[in-house]
Order: sequence, then structure tokens, then C-alpha cells
Amino acid sequence: MVTRISASKASGIFNRGGLAAAAFAALGLSVSAAQAQETVKIGLIVPMTGQQASTGKQIVSAVKLYMLQKGETVAGKKIELIVKDDGAIPDNTKRIAQELIVNDKVNVIAGFGITPTALAAAPLATQAKVPEVVMAAGTSIITERSPYIVRTSFTLPQSSTIIADWALKNGIKKVVALVSDYAPGHDALNSFKATLTAGGGQLVEEIKVPLANPDFAPFLQRAKDAAPDALFIFVPSGQGGTLMKQFAERGLDKSNIKVIGPGDLTDDDLLPNMGDAALGIVTAHLYSANHPSAMNKAYVAAFQKAYDFRPNFMSVGGYDGMHLIYEALKKTGGKADGDSLIAAMKGLKWESPRGPISIDPETRDIVQNIYIRKVEKVNGQLFNVEFATFEAVKDPGKAKK
Ligand code: PHB
Repeated sequence: MVTRISASKASGIFNRGGLAAAAFAALGLSVSAAQAQETVKIGLIVPMTGQQASTGKQIVSAVKLYMLQKGETVAGKKIELIVKDDGAIPDNTKRIAQELIVNDKVNVIAGFGITPTALAAAPLATQAKVPEVVMAAGTSIITERSPYIVRTSFTLPQSSTIIADWALKNGIKKVVALVSDYAPGHDALNSFKATLTAGGGQLVEEIKVPLANPDFAPFLQRAKDAAPDALFIFVPSGQGGTLMKQFAERGLDKSNIKVIGPGDLTDDDLLPNMGDAALGIVTAHLYSANHPSAMNKAYVAAFQKAYDFRPNFMSVGGYDGMHLIYEALKKTGGKADGDSLIAAMKGLKWESPRGPISIDPETRDIVQNIYIRKVEKVNGQLFNVEFATFEAVKDPGKAKK
């Protein structure tokens, strides 16, 4: 049995003459080894402020709910969560990740609300051999940036290729794309375009909107003027509300242009307040709060009870990310070094509130069902109602290589 000792207490003891240090040495233990054996620390870096704050709110809520439901001890180890706000600014992420790794000696870094922040932490994960669990960001390339990255969120090509296929099968030929002008927007656009054009469809315009403080109105007008069969939209979680407001103001909801895309637009966090302009939007995505499984019904009920708002797809990235860490620790018998944890994470499979998921042992990326959904009213509230399922979808961005 090893006595628990905190880093600050330990340094005090050492300063007073090294007796305790000698005792530790006799036991063959360093202070950090003693600590490592008692506590597993998870540094959760998410945007709690700024444009992506809804992602941080969703992830932190889900992570805490998971710990509340499953307890804070795994394989004999106490789980300690340290939450940090990076405001979705990559320089902040890098500094915070470094502090967490060097000063707090975390065993895992997790969270990452947008692609640039997930990428900013990647070299640190590699250098320190600390697993980086990506719970939100969705650009295909992320998992290739470090052998210590594992993803529980999604990739944009997973849903964008599937909605392109659905469009082709539903008589949509001429499409305008409107995407946020950064890596996941480009991934969404390129993968959608490749499938659409291979199937005989036509992408007549590619509109890229700035990520920061976007004014969608002029871009929406351009899209309307092109009079396509459908408008393919990707904006990151948190921006769909503003976009749909401007969409309705431009009268696009009264036009014959269908709205399609990955499901980030009709994010469950914002959907309840989008109004009737959102009715009929068809998206392909990994999660709907309306997913009819028993597990999801229990998840949504527990989440709503705890927080009084609806969980969205970012929340399940956080919930499943915690499950991944807990299950990996069970598999290693509590060994929490990066190499043991990553090896244990590869190939894990479980049932999530979103449906069955697994971690591809080759790519460390998530394999999950993608559902096609339509926005409808259920008991007077807007929901993404699933009507078709594509099972066990791997990231097509990597499959093509
Ligand atoms: C990302 O930056 O990778 C990202 C953020 C929010 C989304 C999708 C992708 O909804």
C-alpha cells in the first residue's frame, strides 16, 4: 500500500531534510510514481467562452454526468478532472496543454472544440507520450498528426459523403455549397463534391464564409440567386442559429431550395429555437437527441434533469471520450502511461447513446453509424428525426488513401 502524497506536500518534506525522500527511495518509489499509482488526471481543454462556448458547455456537462453515473474510481485509481477554457484559440490550447502536462502531470489531455486547437496540442501529445482524446473536432487529418491521438467525435467526410449519396438518390442534381472557411469546412465541401459529381450531380457554386463572426446574409443571397435544387451547408456547432435566422430573413425558407448537409447546422443545442424555417432540413449525422434507443432515452433524460438543456452531438463526444478512458484503464489494470492507454484504446467497442461505436485500431479514429434525419416537430418541439441508417462508417477521408 502506498501512502498518498501530493506534489506540494512532498516537496515540503524534501526541503526539510530529505528523510521522506530517503524513505521513498528505500521503497523504490519516486514521488511522481506514488502519485501516478493513486490518481489518474485528465486535463479537459474546451472552449467555455467565445463563439464555440456551447461546445465546451456540452462536453463538460457530459463528462461530469459520466463521472457522476460511473463513479470517480476506476481500476483502483481516483479520477481527477481538471477543466480549462481555451476560448477555442490555438495558442491558448498549446500553453494550457503544456502546463497540464508539465505542471499538473496529467495522464490524458482531452476535449478540443475545433480543429485548430486539436492540431495545436498534437506535437505536445507526441513529445510527452500523453494520449489526446479528441471529443469535438472533425477534420479527417487530426488523428494522423500524432500516434497519441484517439477520436470520439466524428469526421466531416463521414456525414458529407452520405448526404451527397442521399441527394443523388432524391433527384437533387444542382447544388450550391456554403461552408465555413477552415479545415472541417473544406473537408465537408471536398468529400461532398467528390461523391456528388461522381454520381452525376453538379456543384455550381462553392461559397466559403469566414469562421469568426460570420455575417451569412450576403452569402445566402448569392446562394439564392443561383437557384439550385439544394443548398449544402456546413457551419460548426454554435453557428446554426444565426445562419437559420438570416436564412428566414432572406425568404429562403419560402423558396424551393432544399437545405442539406452534415448535422452540425441543426445542432440539438440550438434547434429548439430555430423556428419553423428549419422544418424539412435533411442532414446526415452521428447523433440526434431523438435517437430512439433505450440508452439514448435514459441519457437525454439524465442530461436534461441535471442541466435543463438538450444534449447535442458534442456532448456524446465528451461522454464517450470518458468511457474510452475508463475502459482503457480497466483493460490496463490501472496502468496509466500513454503507451499502455493508447494500446488499450485501440479496437474498443461499446454502445453509446448515439448507437454502436468503436475505435479503429489502425487509425485510432471513430467508427460509427451515420443516420439520415429530417427536422420535424415532435410533441411541438423541433427534432432531427432519423429515417435511415448507414452502419459502422469509417472515415472516408482515410479510407481513400
Ligand atoms: C472543427 O473545428 O473540427 C469542428 C467544430 C465544430 C463542428 C464540426 C467541426 O460542428
